[in-house]
Amino acid sequence: MRKKFVLGNWKMNKTVKESIEAVNELVELLKDYEGEYIWGIAPPFTSLFAVSSSKGKVRFLLGAQNCHHEKTGPYTGEVSPLMLYDIGVDFVILGHSERRIHFGETDALISRKVRAVLDFGMIPVLCVGERLEEREGGATFEVVKAQLSGSLALIEPNLISSVVIAYEPIWAIGTGRTATPKTAQEVHQFIRETLVGMGADASEVSVIYGGSVKPDNIRELTEMSDIDGVLVGGASLKPESFANIIHFAK
Ligand code: PGA
Repeated sequence: MRKKFVLGNWKMNKTVKESIEAVNELVELLKDYEGEYIWGIAPPFTSLFAVSSSKGKVRFLLGAQNCHHEKTGPYTGEVSPLMLYDIGVDFVILGHSERRIHFGETDALISRKVRAVLDFGMIPVLCVGERLEEREGGATFEVVKAQLSGSLALIEPNLISSVVIAYEPIWAIGTGRTATPKTAQEVHQFIRETLVGMGADASEVSVIYGGSVKPDNIRELTEMSDIDGVLVGGASLKPESFANIIHFAK
């Protein structure tokens, strides 16, 4: 049985104090949650250590939004997977479209990061997704396939099921424009088929959806057979809306 996730990506938001307050609220709202979704949040780097001390209170996953692929070294301004592992980080978001677009991350670089995160026993959450022009030009499958094969190039087929894939169509991120459940399902199914082609046991791979997920569209999205959860940006910043997403996920 593959695992199901609701993960929050706080992006470049919240001070340490705000992060602690939000986590305390989430812990309170979700302390009796008994559903099948594993929930987690990815605060900014500066808040990770402070937030990690709340992990004992209820079970949730702590995530980082990026990391370097080397363990240590002369990489000014970077944070290594060892450092994240050291403070109890469970998952690392990699290849987010904002990192691909604003920081020039390529599939080859992302692949090294996926490798490093797996080597430290953390969960890579690998983001893939097409731009609006690519969707309109009928290139969605081609783009997603190239991202998968490039970003997983250094991963043995039997380890691919340890990676969570997040399908995040770029035109749906922060725009309020969600992919319809049917559109998302089509791509999720395609992702699973592509992973089979790469030799993975794709029935074991969790494929989650991201892009304007909110409490009022979570149910229909998670009703789809190949959607194993969601990666939430904007709506994860308010504890109440994030908790509602978790509660309403089917
Ligand atoms: P959004 O962001 O939910 O604000 O659209 C999703 C993401 O970027 O992971």
